Amino acid sequence: MKIALGSDHAGFQAKEALKLALATAGHVVEDLGTKSTESVDYSDFGLRVARAVSEGAADRGIAICGTGIGMCIAANKVRGIRAAVAHDAFTAEMSRRHNDANVLCLGARLLAEDRIRELSRLWLETPFEGGRHERRIGRISDYEKG
Ligand code: RB5
Repeated sequence: MKIALGSDHAGFQAKEALKLALATAGHVVEDLGTKSTESVDYSDFGLRVARAVSEGAADRGIAICGTGIGMCIAANKVRGIRAAVAHDAFTAEMSRRHNDANVLCLGARLLAEDRIRELSRLWLETPFEGGRHERRIGRISDYEKG
């Protein structure tokens, strides 16, 4: 799978570790920054990841900041993006099964690197259930189209 990956300074170390794990698992990773622990604005990187998915340059996106919240708020402003913050296996799995989330937002100040790796793996592998959930996300897409 082609994955757009991004973080701010708070998520930088976790992003670097996740990048290696994803590549080792056979994914094609596009690292959209940031490139160091120097302070940056999470919004820039959340929007970059979301745009890569929205424009079809990546199949999915993963964005890491301190809490995952800022990345999620930013990413959800981009057309076609369903970004979800996951803190545990249940939220990671349900964001795929019921919400067809295409961007996963994670908090590096809450989750250890191995947890981030595990939640990302689970999220990437979990399919969307479709059915009644298709209709529900369709309502959101309709609203977005105006
Ligand atoms: C940076 O200090 C922090 O605000 C950011 O990483 C993120 O948690 C925002 O939602």
